[in-house]
Amino acid sequence: MTKINAVITGVGAYLPDYILTNEELSTMVDTNDEWIMTRIGIKERRILKGDGLGSSELGSKAVAELLKKTNTSPEEIDLVICATVTPDMPFPATANIISDKVGINNAFSFDINAGCSGFLFSLTTGAKYIESGMCKKVIVVGAEKMSSIVDYTDRQTCPIFGDGSAAVLLEPTTENVGVIDEILHTQGSGRKHLYQKAGGSCRPASHETVDNREHFIYQEGSHVFKHAVSNMADVSVEMMEKHNITSEELAWLVPHQANNRIIEATAKRMGLAKEKVMINIEKYGNTTSATIPLCLWEWEKQLKKGDDIILSGFGAGFTWGAILIKWGYDTK
Ligand code: UT7
Repeated sequence: MTKINAVITGVGAYLPDYILTNEELSTMVDTNDEWIMTRIGIKERRILKGDGLGSSELGSKAVAELLKKTNTSPEEIDLVICATVTPDMPFPATANIISDKVGINNAFSFDINAGCSGFLFSLTTGAKYIESGMCKKVIVVGAEKMSSIVDYTDRQTCPIFGDGSAAVLLEPTTENVGVIDEILHTQGSGRKHLYQKAGGSCRPASHETVDNREHFIYQEGSHVFKHAVSNMADVSVEMMEKHNITSEELAWLVPHQANNRIIEATAKRMGLAKEKVMINIEKYGNTTSATIPLCLWEWEKQLKKGDDIILSGFGAGFTWGAILIKWGYDTK
């Protein structure tokens, strides 16, 4: 029987207009451009403004662009997976709301929460539905309104995150392109170093949780940093070795954009030249599940059919992993 691969056949994205610069942040907390640029590598990030607008606002615009670019009608979509840690609400799934907003009515849909590895876990899941023959067209969208859970009085976390969304279309192919392999990990004991303390069933919202600012991101930065550096580098190198791909042969690394120093350490361990590493953290910050597809979207025109690309990330959970893809098309 011929093997069916799941291949990315298009990328769409949406970034809100409002630009929150380091200069503006410096008026909100005791920080400065020099510290943020040296320690993290972020100059500015996008923020979704407007009452009542959540991640589905961002995700539906990214999916709408994807449908238009790929000339796909909403009725053709079989499955929508939304990777997010900032759903519009605890239930129903943001994927359902995105589907409704863009007129996807023949699909089933669900969310995946895997922290900053959300896109990796979701891409893998979507690919399995294609490879099994169960679905023909799957949308995987990373959508995050991180500004809804960022504490803008906490200088340790508020410079890091931004809002944004990006989506890919997955389709079947019998060619030797598409999602080739994935190595994914979860270590639940890491959860206490990066999480949102309240708002779930364990600690529902109360006056006390609000007063204690427990509905925002809590992060022990340097602890997370150490784990991110070693795990992202290890898993990316493991993927190269597993497939006998040298640093010369690998076309691109698409790293999660959490900190420029984590990206540089990963690329160094892989022996990759800087030109092969997609980095846009300076413009958008850490958009959690959206960072990796946002890079694919920005670099799409430079990608060539057959390019070996490693997607790699680390995030809350702890979760981390790497996916090897062979790019499926040339953009005219
Ligand atoms: O995407 C999900 C996974 N998350 C990550 O991968 C994030 C991993 N962690 C990091 O990227 C880094 O740990 C941070 C960017 C969060 C922090 O950088 P760091 O180099 O680890 O700084 P630090 O927390 O060790 O703090 C160093 C100093 C401290 O001052 P003292 O104690 O040395 O006097 C902080 O108070 O920098 C101070 N500091 C700041 N100074 C100016 C912390 N935040 C700021 C700030 N502006 N915004």
